[in-house]
Amino acid sequence: MEDLSAFFPDADTFFAANLPVGLTFDDISLATRYSDILPRDANLAVSLSESLNLQIPIISSDMDTVTESAMAIRMALNGGLGLIHYNMSDDMQVKEVARVKNHIHGFIREPIKVNAEQLIGEVLDRISRKNFGFSTFPVVDENDRLLGLLPGSCVKERYRARTVREAMTPRAEVYSMREAEIRDHPIEAADRFFTDHLGIHKLLIVDDDDILCGLFTLSDIERIDEESSRSVKPARDARFRLRCGAAVASHRHPDGSLDVERIVSHVGRLVDEGVDAVAVSTAHGFSKGVGDSVKLLREQFPDLTLIAGNVTSAEGVAFLAGAGADCIKVGQGPGSICTTRVVAGVGIPQMTALYVSAREAAKHGVTVIADGGIAKSGDMVKALTLADALICGGLLAGCDEAPGRILEINGKLYKQYRGMGSREAMKEGSASRYGHDKKDAPSKAAPEGIEALKEAVGPLDGVLRELNGGIQSGMGYLGARDLAALRTNARYIRVSPAGQKEAAPHDVITVKASTTPSNE
Ligand code: XMP
Repeated sequence: MEDLSAFFPDADTFFAANLPVGLTFDDISLATRYSDILPRDANLAVSLSESLNLQIPIISSDMDTVTESAMAIRMALNGGLGLIHYNMSDDMQVKEVARVKNHIHGFIREPIKVNAEQLIGEVLDRISRKNFGFSTFPVVDENDRLLGLLPGSCVKERYRARTVREAMTPRAEVYSMREAEIRDHPIEAADRFFTDHLGIHKLLIVDDDDILCGLFTLSDIERIDEESSRSVKPARDARFRLRCGAAVASHRHPDGSLDVERIVSHVGRLVDEGVDAVAVSTAHGFSKGVGDSVKLLREQFPDLTLIAGNVTSAEGVAFLAGAGADCIKVGQGPGSICTTRVVAGVGIPQMTALYVSAREAAKHGVTVIADGGIAKSGDMVKALTLADALICGGLLAGCDEAPGRILEINGKLYKQYRGMGSREAMKEGSASRYGHDKKDAPSKAAPEGIEALKEAVGPLDGVLRELNGGIQSGMGYLGARDLAALRTNARYIRVSPAGQKEAAPHDVITVKASTTPSNE
């Protein structure tokens, strides 16, 4: 049979044949391969370093309109990772990481409480004012010491004039556990408790002085049980805590030298809180400051997973790997809010940058993270034929969990999304990422990012479900059971402008667009 395999070459042949043209996602399409797997069976797990493994290869970007603790918690619950941005004080960033690491899904840390002398009528008014969907409340004194439990069966109009004290189940009859008893395996402990105590729906957690610390409800625990049978599990560390990353800047003294003390002490505090990865995150990673910071952190924290970037060349990858980075962030200018290529005339189309970086990374035993420009799940599949994982900004910035402000325009909801190199973001601290000083941001520094809006797209869970499904579809077409097989099986074809037009819906009037979020 005539050998036609040259039509769909592997990465080495394809990218070399396209020289000197740099290619990005829409320039390329992937060829299908023989498949004996169903998309839903494709495994999305990835190891980014010896100690950092994720259930899905998606990381939320360290941007101040994308990742703070709420996003990082939800990312980890979905099996990914959030990188907490550094446009905040060092103290605040440590607190944000602690929030993620101490988050126990299903454990309500600050339950709504009532006091014993209140009238049931007051409790009813509060329920209707705040729209609470529950009516059982712990009863505490002024020091939060547990006095009893007000059962929902007593929170009724007919008892309006009665006091909480008259209605509550007294302390001695309320089920509780001490915080220390549940610390290592809180969910399992609560699960066992509810199985052993027929008909009990609330478990109160107290400290050694009987001060209320939180509560579990049976319905939350049942939801977690249901989630645990899902194919994608949360990303957790060896102590069952959610995974969390944080980005750090290469802080400098006024004379330009590295502020070693500040960097080491801040990262030390993040490590004490259990941070899983620290990213030295800048626009130009192939630079002395970033190399020195990575070396410093590697010496001080030998076991910490270090992510560093951004670079787009083999020399850049070799430089950061040599300094001690485990994962290299690749991307200069592909981001949806980036203007680096416009302002500085610099950057490499992302698929070519990923190819060069991935080949060099393999020589050094480090992993590659594709950062920027991912607008749809098809781009994710293409990036994952070369990279180990992906960083997304714009795709996630419209989610409820992103910190950006919500705006209503003509009845539609949008969320603020801005480049970390935009003037406003640099004023708040990200200037160092672009090699500028914070005080230069308003005047001297040329912004390399814009301020934008993304359509509000609801909870992250739904967005990730669609994106994961898209990646699994791509893996199904390529017969790839896991991400390593996706890299091996990938065969490429160059797409012409007519091919790009053919790739999107055409010659129809769209009635309902796909729900997959896109940049359009
Ligand atoms: P997406 O396309 O996911 O890109 O929205 C997010 C990534 O873009 C980078 N980033 C910037 N790049 N100017 C730039 O040139 C900026 O102002 C800027 N802000 C973020 C960053 O790598 C992020 O993860």
